[in-house]
Amino acid sequence: MTPAPETIVLDRREQAESDLAGEIAALVRERGRIVLGLATGDTPTGLYRELARLRREKLLDCSRVVAFGLDEYLGLEPDDPRTFAGWIREKVLELLGIPEGSRHVPATDVPGDLTDVERCAAYERSIRDAGGIDLQILGIGRNGHIAFNEPPSTGDSRTRVVQLHPWTREDAAPVFGGLANVPTRAITMGIATILDAKRIRVLAFGSRKAAIVARALGGPIGPEVPASFLRGHADLRIWLDREAARELHSGRPVRP
Ligand code: GLP
Repeated sequence: MTPAPETIVLDRREQAESDLAGEIAALVRERGRIVLGLATGDTPTGLYRELARLRREKLLDCSRVVAFGLDEYLGLEPDDPRTFAGWIREKVLELLGIPEGSRHVPATDVPGDLTDVERCAAYERSIRDAGGIDLQILGIGRNGHIAFNEPPSTGDSRTRVVQLHPWTREDAAPVFGGLANVPTRAITMGIATILDAKRIRVLAFGSRKAAIVARALGGPIGPEVPASFLRGHADLRIWLDREAARELHSGRPVRP
């Protein structure tokens, strides 16, 4: 199995978080305004803390950063703290000082009585109107999902409503106080929406991700492992810790 050449394997996840935070801060310093794609989940939380630290130390100014969330549960009240909109607001947008008018999350993003299909189309339009995503932060689900593109998801998929996979609902059960309370549907950017981002930066940590990381980077590219489509992107970088990388078999692409 040959991992993507941009794969970086590190001893500690903090090194990955600091590398990626440094790249984002440099991009913001260079351009002022960038469009950032945000992931939820445990994986990027250290990265967001590191970005918040850079901001506190006046090394990062997000006043012109525009943010787009990847996905959202359907069926929760808008003020439910378990929405991704609430999670992103608390853990990212507030801490980084991204202005109110520059925050976007699917489903809640557009006012009025739109159908799901209209909401999805509106989200695609807002991303395009913002000039496209400059840098997309991504994690990988245990079943190979990116955002909520559950297997099988096609490479040409766009923002849409999806049914959540049993593993995804199982993983979310602790947060919802039991499987029965986990939403069954979500809205998600599609694979093609994600692949439109100019840079894609993926983080995967821990032994729970080892099997899927090996399939995503070394197995066939196709709908059964949605993350495998990332390998077709021209500017992709993936950071793994040793546990997540342990099923990659070829010569290890450890950072020099
Ligand atoms: C979630 C999100 C994904 C995330 C993934 C992994 O449900 N929709 O965007 O990457 O699952 O989550 P974690 O980082 O907690 O393992």
